[in-house]
Amino acid sequence: MLRDSDVLSTLMQRKPAYSLAQDLYCDPGVFKADMNHIWYKEWVFAIASCEIPKTGNYVVHDIGAYSVVIVRGSDGEIRAFHNSCRHRGSVLCKAKKGTGPKLVCPYHQWTYELDGRLLWARDMGPDFDASQHGLSRVHCRNLSGMVYICLAEEAPEIDAFAERTAAYLAPHDLENSKVAYESTIVEQGNWKLVWENNRECYHCAGNHPSLCRTFPEDPRYIGSDGELNDLQQQHTARCEAVGAPSAFLESGPGDWRYVRTPLLDGAESYTLDGKVASTRPNSTLPFRDAGALLKYKYPGCWNHFLSDHVILFRVTPISPMETEVCTKWLVHKDAVEGQDYDLQRLTEVWVATNSEDREVVENNQRGILSPAYRPGPYSPLHEGGLIQFTDWYASTMIAAMTGRSAAIAAE
Ligand code: FES
Ligand SMILES: [Fe+2]
Repeated sequence: MLRDSDVLSTLMQRKPAYSLAQDLYCDPGVFKADMNHIWYKEWVFAIASCEIPKTGNYVVHDIGAYSVVIVRGSDGEIRAFHNSCRHRGSVLCKAKKGTGPKLVCPYHQWTYELDGRLLWARDMGPDFDASQHGLSRVHCRNLSGMVYICLAEEAPEIDAFAERTAAYLAPHDLENSKVAYESTIVEQGNWKLVWENNRECYHCAGNHPSLCRTFPEDPRYIGSDGELNDLQQQHTARCEAVGAPSAFLESGPGDWRYVRTPLLDGAESYTLDGKVASTRPNSTLPFRDAGALLKYKYPGCWNHFLSDHVILFRVTPISPMETEVCTKWLVHKDAVEGQDYDLQRLTEVWVATNSEDREVVENNQRGILSPAYRPGPYSPLHEGGLIQFTDWYASTMIAAMTGRSAAIAAE
């Protein structure tokens, strides 16, 4: 198990534009450092706000050693708390989701308001000050229907991302959506391999027959380097003319990106026939062939926003070589299954694609464990996203481990 100083020197010696050193994909010390310096520090996507639409609805989301309760208060606000009672620390919410008028600890029934204040604690004596024993807050922001949490004492700045998210997601009504289907798989691979696989479509033609019917594998559809093809430019102009921000936009530190890309041959959605999956759209886009708004926010999510539905992918590391990928298909809250959408049509392309991706990620991990593994070069045409991801990862880690800014660490 590598010590922090070894992790740092491995990162410092990294060859840019090459896959990472073996240890960075499997070592328990690296995993611990990744959790401490990225997952417990950055804003991480947790749930869609429409999963807890009513007062008292809650969801529990675990990240590494932490368990977090995300709950809707009587004022409509969504807040997050550590799932640990302020009496003797018991888990407060045992179920993964539920509803209650208050949060009541199962051990000795200390009872908390939905805003975290301690309301009632039996026989704690005359000097007990309930106001000093409210639940511990976790930073929480509901950005256009996506709830992000941050476990750090002091959360990094998120206002610029929030502002851009409000603009790009404005045509997509997540608040008035519902989860039509949810799938959770655990991939036997390091979380960075899950991301690397996501950030390229070099593997698509050989692995994703159903996705390739509608999703363009040509990276120039998404490109940021001015080499966009005419189709992409026309698509951006057409969508922006109806008020839907679509141009490629990436953050300075590289932790997020938005871009709306056309689907192949005028396809409307990720279905086998290319037609919409839901006839009751959860967007205000005036045409169905608006393509896919592709977004990622490291380290926790990538998302696809279509004219008719939304797919939210959430990544959560479990151990050095296990990563949970949770996928949720969101449709309009009033869409009726069997009438407005067919569940199989809605989900089959990405259920298959997730399964295919799991296999390639697991093969990648197994091959990396060979003593013969050496970092290999990324394709400059197809794997620019991996160069970007590994640069972000290394500079973020080096900055966190040395106290330098990420911009300096990237040099
Ligand atoms: S540990 Fe929660 S009430 Fe005692
Ligand atoms: Fe894939």
